[in-house]
Amino acid sequence: MKEIVEELERRREAARQGGGDRRIASQHAKGKMTARERLELLLDEDSFEETDMFVTHRCVDFGMAEKTIPGDGVVTGHGTVNGRLVYVFAKDFTVVGGSLSETHARKIVKIQEAAVRNGAPVIGLFDAGGARIQEGVASLAGYADIFLQNVLASGVVPQISVIMGPCAGGDVYSPAMTDFIFMVKDTSYMYVTGPDVVKTVTNEEVTHEDLGGASVHAKKSGVADGGFENDYEALVQIRRLIDFLPLNNREKPPVWDSYDDPERPEPSLDTLVPDNPNTPYDIKELIVKVADEGDLFETAPEHAQNIVTGFIRLEGATVGVVANQPMSLAGVLDIDASKKAARFVRFCDAFNIPILTFVDVPGFLPGTKQEYGGLIKHGAKLLFAYAEATVPKVTVITRKAYGGAYDVMSSKHIRGDVNYAWPTAQIAVMGPKGAAEIIFRADADKMAAHVKEYEDRFANPFVAAQRGYLDDVIRPRNTRKRVIRALRTLKNKKAENPWKKHDNIPL
Ligand code: HXC
Repeated sequence: MKEIVEELERRREAARQGGGDRRIASQHAKGKMTARERLELLLDEDSFEETDMFVTHRCVDFGMAEKTIPGDGVVTGHGTVNGRLVYVFAKDFTVVGGSLSETHARKIVKIQEAAVRNGAPVIGLFDAGGARIQEGVASLAGYADIFLQNVLASGVVPQISVIMGPCAGGDVYSPAMTDFIFMVKDTSYMYVTGPDVVKTVTNEEVTHEDLGGASVHAKKSGVADGGFENDYEALVQIRRLIDFLPLNNREKPPVWDSYDDPERPEPSLDTLVPDNPNTPYDIKELIVKVADEGDLFETAPEHAQNIVTGFIRLEGATVGVVANQPMSLAGVLDIDASKKAARFVRFCDAFNIPILTFVDVPGFLPGTKQEYGGLIKHGAKLLFAYAEATVPKVTVITRKAYGGAYDVMSSKHIRGDVNYAWPTAQIAVMGPKGAAEIIFRADADKMAAHVKEYEDRFANPFVAAQRGYLDDVIRPRNTRKRVIRALRTLKNKKAENPWKKHDNIPL
């Protein structure tokens, strides 16, 4: 028995060595942790249960028969984050560059299937060279098996991808179908084809970073939901995110102890909105002043900054926040903002997370660039997402709610449950100046008077309140209290959409 146990320990130790000291040193020299070091940080101490650590590939081509390393380039298993179950896989770059073989894929699929069966999130840590070139089509098949599981798990359990090294070719599409992608700045990059192929096909010369670094995906493309400074920060932040999320779509979001008074007034909010309607202010100030302990986990903070999305807690329970940001492009809705917020709203709806919307929006961004880019379809995504969402929806209009954007931003008409406005709200088809210039074109001499007339009529929340489109006009200082009270009434909300196989959101 003693020998068998020793043999087990010897084999375990060999597997834990991954690609060996030289490759581990090279990983560290690049500023990256190894797969196991990452999992140790991500999971609660001593909670990691590794599975399939003895799995090896079956390839015998191109000298691979002599190159078998237990684990086959991916460390898989489950553990806990603050006591709550999560399934994990971490690509091990020290083993054949973390490349994906048939057996490597099988290990990941096993994790995905267990996560769905047992109702727990999947967190994937990526650092890999793509398809195992020596395995050819078996590797492509393995990717497709993973993609299928990504799709089946979507909306059932949260799926989170963290890109911590190269992520190219087949490796990009699995993260792309997960709920959140985070990247590590300077050491990670994501692209369908790398700089060499780009040069051959398009003659364009580009670096790894400029093609697919965090500076590209967390800002410009919006593929990533955030970029972190290093492996350590990324993993600590993923733990923080997990604390906000339910483990699956049958659960309500977790409720943590909160020591923040639900009735807490915030008098400074009474002067948040400037007198001049064209002067910006920071909507994040409102969000953090309303949130329990001022805690906001913002998603995609560097992309489409004209809309803020993220998670807060009210009375200890998770709430998703969507807010137009007057500090960026006056808070206008454009293609990027619509896509960012639509996806966020759908995530919240899929996972029973109530949505709090703060509105200060001058409309949709006009112009050929936006129209040629398909603003109509992309704007419709946000409208569609809000309208189909059946989770509790509370809306507060702080200032402008103009035109179609008023309808879109969780208005009463698309099933906003509780809709409030501050006294500074202006709800109209467009700004007073633009409106007067159209309807009083023939009377240009008295334009100033006409602008004033339009302003007096619509630059306030009371016309909408008279019609019942708003449930109340509230004092800014009481926003936290009123939103919390509204959410309490919605705790047992029941709403269903008509039966359908699935909807046809404008993609
Ligand atoms: C087999 C691979 C590999 C791969 C890396 N390695 N990628 N082995 N298949 N795809 C091995 C290397 O041979 C090397 O082995 C070790 O991993 C480390 O790689 P290095 O090149 O030394 O590391 P580095 O210099 O950091 O470069 C990393 C890299 C580069 C940029 C990722 O390895 C690279 O370009 N790899 C190929 C990427 C690629 O084209 N993949 C296929 C994509 S197509 P030794 O033994 O020397 O340590 C694809 C299609 C799937 O994925 C589509 C499905 C839908």
